Amino acid sequence: MLLILSACSITSGTRHSQERYFLMEVKPVLQQHCLACHNGTLPRPALNLTSKATAFTQSTSGRDYILPGDPDGSLLISAVQRGGTHLKMMPRREISLTEDQIGMLREWIEDGAYWPEGEQGTLKPQKSVENP
Ligand code: HEC
Repeated sequence: MLLILSACSITSGTRHSQERYFLMEVKPVLQQHCLACHNGTLPRPALNLTSKATAFTQSTSGRDYILPGDPDGSLLISAVQRGGTHLKMMPRREISLTEDQIGMLREWIEDGAYWPEGEQGTLKPQKSVENP
């Protein structure tokens, strides 16, 4: 009984911290740096980061944008690591994430890429001082 109880609390603790990590770290960075374009208005099958259902898909070359547990197998990571060369038409500043931000995204994917359903998991373009 004790064992079951502690197993449950460990599970919900992990779930809770994964949710917090997504909301505090992942979501703001994606909204600020990616949602200006990857918001569902690019022609299909372009990456659409507005929800888990649209983000967890594959490119035309059959590669996963986000492959839980495998940052190096995730196109999203190769795109941000390539920085400004992600696409010729893409202004460099728009996707130059810091080393910390890239590390954070890698860690998130390594840890299973938790992405909640509903309002919490809904991403929208975000205006900011840096990216008006
Ligand atoms: C200024 C607009 C713009 C911004 C900002 C932007 N992208 Fe893109 N991105 C595009 C376009 C256009 C494409 C080509 C269509 C496609 O394949 O999705 C693309 C393609 C991609 C692809 C698939 C092709 C590749 O190069 O691997 C990934 C992954 C990607 N973007 C990730 C991101 C991430 C992550 C961010 C934020 C850190 C971001 N993009 C920010 C416009 C943008």
